[in-house]
Amino acid sequence: MSRIPKIGIVTVSDRASRGTYADESGPAILAFLNEALSTPFEPVIRIIADEKTLIEETIKELVDEMDCRLVVTTGGTGPAARDVTPEATEAVCDRMMPGFGELMRSISLRSVPTAILSRQTAGLRKGSLIINLPGKPAAIRECLMAVFPAVPYCIDLMEGPRLETHPKVVVAFRPGSKPAS
Ligand code: MTE
Repeated sequence: MSRIPKIGIVTVSDRASRGTYADESGPAILAFLNEALSTPFEPVIRIIADEKTLIEETIKELVDEMDCRLVVTTGGTGPAARDVTPEATEAVCDRMMPGFGELMRSISLRSVPTAILSRQTAGLRKGSLIINLPGKPAAIRECLMAVFPAVPYCIDLMEGPRLETHPKVVVAFRPGSKPAS
């Protein structure tokens, strides 16, 4: 496949979607991806309210129509009444990948005891990986640094585009192959 891979970035926030404050979380995801990936990619960015149906439709649009093989969401993972991102993710995924949430919570727990309040998860829709991150910009880099070593191999296993990383930022682990120097 010679096309540039597309990566979806979805900020789920009532206030950012209304313009009450500027979205800092989506840009933090994009900054991490720019730093970590040596493979060129095209970001597809969405900022939406905490509405389950809207989150589901957005993930479906990014995967089914835009052909994003990786979609990263931020926000809506806590226990507040309007936090429904994990439910929306689960509703549109064929299979769940619980290891992502487990690792991100355990890493975040080193920084904040409230990390256990995040219900963030990940899952697969067709051949795409969807990962939830908490809404706080400070959490974005921490969580992505933790899970990203496994992301390129996950996408390989689904026969998606080969994603390469800058090893000084994050080493993509591919079992059976030598790490890039
Ligand atoms: N993880 C990290 N690394 N840093 C944080 O500040 N905040 C927690 C948790 N995970 C946090 C974190 C809190 S306070 C909540 S309520 C949940 O993420 C959910 O946040 P969200 O609803 O903004 O997604």
